[in-house]
Amino acid sequence: MRKWYGVSLFIATLSIFIAIALVGSTQAADRPVLRVGTDATFPPFEFVNEKGQYVGFDMDLIRLIGAELGMDVRIVNTSFDGLIPGLMANQFDCIIAGMTVTDERAKSVAFSTPYFNAGQVIVVRTNDQSIHGVGDLKGKVVTTQIGTTGQLVVDKMTGLKEHRVFNTVPEAVQEVLQGRADAAVIDLPVAADFLRSQPGKFKIVGKPFTNEVYAIAVRKDNPALLAKINQALKQIEASGKFDALYKEWIMQ
Ligand code: ARG
Repeated sequence: MRKWYGVSLFIATLSIFIAIALVGSTQAADRPVLRVGTDATFPPFEFVNEKGQYVGFDMDLIRLIGAELGMDVRIVNTSFDGLIPGLMANQFDCIIAGMTVTDERAKSVAFSTPYFNAGQVIVVRTNDQSIHGVGDLKGKVVTTQIGTTGQLVVDKMTGLKEHRVFNTVPEAVQEVLQGRADAAVIDLPVAADFLRSQPGKFKIVGKPFTNEVYAIAVRKDNPALLAKINQALKQIEASGKFDALYKEWIMQ
């Protein structure tokens, strides 16, 4: 009798634990997920660290936004030129990728309030003496990342020897460092970050020659999400958390 009492008590306790575990797990699964497209080859905004984690300014910012919205953030890593098509095909809910607001892109996607100012700069090897600005790119081999505003602006330049387009910014820069190209055209904050991580290898010449702002992109048929993201951005700026991110990733 006693023994059976013990066994049923044990079973009852076990069932309670299982029930709690089940409720817990369904609750976790019920938390809405924000699927975020990015191209994590763009430090200090988005890159993969030694531990294989998605880190950087944009990654922290979107996680803060997720927290404001009560959503779990799931990063979907895609090539930069696949981001807008992926968003349109509903592979993710938004894009954060140091993405510049352009009229062309705004035809297909809706942009949040801008959160960052940037511009294109020219990057050359440290010992280069021939390139001081855009005018000096004539007769040179210039590299950019596919689908970027850098590619767009270099596409319009005349008199270049060649324009070589790469899948990622690090590849475009590598081509210059290894002497196969003369200059890369990339976003200033990314050039500045490479300069910090690989000092002495190359230099930035001249000033940024475009004016750009970064924003988060969502599908036009999802104005509710856009409004929530803008509200969250406001909150994050007002709380000082945005400045903290800026200090951590941009001003080191
Ligand atoms: N700001 C540029 C653009 O929008 C470059 C962005 C590249 N971003 C990236 N994650 N690779 O075209």
